[in-house]
Amino acid sequence: MSIWRTKPVSAFEADMKKSDLKRVLTKWGLTSLGIGAIIGGGIFTLTGIAAHDYAGPALALSFVIAGIGCLFASLCYAEFASVLPVEGSAYAYAYGTVGELFAWFIGWNLILEYMMGATTVAVAWSGYFCKLLHLFHLDIPIHLSNDLATATEKCLAAGMAAPSFAFNIPAFIITWIVTMILVKGIKEAASTNNVIVIVKIAVVLFVIIVGAFYINPSNWTPFIPDKVSSIGEDGKEVFKFGFGGVLTAATIVFFAYIGFDAVSTQAGEAINPKKDVPFAIIASLIICTVLYILVSLVLTGMVRYDQLDKAAPVASAFSGIGINWAVFIITLAATAGLTSVMLVMMLGQTRIFLGMSKDGLLPPFFKRLHHSFKTPYKSTILVGAIVSVVGATTPIGKISEMCSMGTLLAFAMVCVAVMMLRYKKPELERPYRTPAVYLVGCLGVGFNIFLMCFVRKETWFAFMVWGVIGVALYFLYSRRKSNLHNL
Ligand code: ALA
Repeated sequence: MSIWRTKPVSAFEADMKKSDLKRVLTKWGLTSLGIGAIIGGGIFTLTGIAAHDYAGPALALSFVIAGIGCLFASLCYAEFASVLPVEGSAYAYAYGTVGELFAWFIGWNLILEYMMGATTVAVAWSGYFCKLLHLFHLDIPIHLSNDLATATEKCLAAGMAAPSFAFNIPAFIITWIVTMILVKGIKEAASTNNVIVIVKIAVVLFVIIVGAFYINPSNWTPFIPDKVSSIGEDGKEVFKFGFGGVLTAATIVFFAYIGFDAVSTQAGEAINPKKDVPFAIIASLIICTVLYILVSLVLTGMVRYDQLDKAAPVASAFSGIGINWAVFIITLAATAGLTSVMLVMMLGQTRIFLGMSKDGLLPPFFKRLHHSFKTPYKSTILVGAIVSVVGATTPIGKISEMCSMGTLLAFAMVCVAVMMLRYKKPELERPYRTPAVYLVGCLGVGFNIFLMCFVRKETWFAFMVWGVIGVALYFLYSRRKSNLHNL
């Protein structure tokens, strides 16, 4: 029965008292971390493909649908964060409610969310950085700024010979820069992040306000272009446009919302976690949802959806109307903005490892803090090593789908767990309570499982393999080493 054992809430409270992490994060500092993790590759790149191929001007509707779904999950996250304000996020919540194997499995999936999320963004960063250099007529050779598969594809498309070797150097270097900032400490990381978040929000507002003057309302009709359906590579029916297309686009832009939950991994460093973490989770999500809806309305209003650039839609919408200086600013801000996403994702990953290691489910290596910086430096360097190598050698599409898959499952599990905790321990003090918890929880589970159905078969297969490895590790190591043996 030991796979069902749960960690007592008193043990979480004891962990919090013992924590060596510095408590420096305020309510708005946490919200800023959330926004830093959310606004990134999703809005700056994926909007192009989502509007061009799937939703048309109804892209804003896709953002509304994905945003509402995330809101259900965020309301559940917020209640948990107020009850168990410890590092470890959804992993810790499941450990306190559902049971150890489930908790381990969530932690295992959060690795996909945070580590693969950071890796996806490192590759996207490299793309924007190369664009920025290109504005100054500097070009890094294709095989030194892409993985082998992508470099081969690009060389062949340009009529060049395929390279025998490729390594994405910008993705590799940015990962190590972020790693070094994180090793040095959360305070430095938080202030670096605050500056970047201000730049990022300023550019998004710039796009909305300036772009609004160039909207041609005729670009919004038809709002939902007529449905086209075709059979995809994996034999499944693919919907382009129509309401099915709007839903497919919602699964694509879901990536743009990933990150609000990263706030919950910082509870160990918050000054007043029980109140401020729930606030920051919900506030960062709502702020970003509003900005996303406005940006997508402006973009599809400025440029006809079928003329939107798929690689850099925001920048190219402005070059399309002849404001070339804006292209420079947007590209620069996107590069900075993606850096902050990496910062929070990698930070979140090390804090989840820290929580799992403190519980004995991972080796002590992951909880060793630096004597003066007080950061888990060893695991930060390990995460940096993995992200940098995978980012330098793997195509972005595969990594981002695995990231979404892990996130969707983690979100669904949190919704289940918050309902279970209400039922099993109604007496617990809850500084924040999810409104209509059983309705919101069920809608959250349903929405996330529904989106998982839209992911490709290959990704499902890779996801299953990842899951089997995780369960095997649990039985071979974690179950025997768990601290719950000693309670
Ligand atoms: N939401 C983050 C992004 O769009 C992961 O880059």
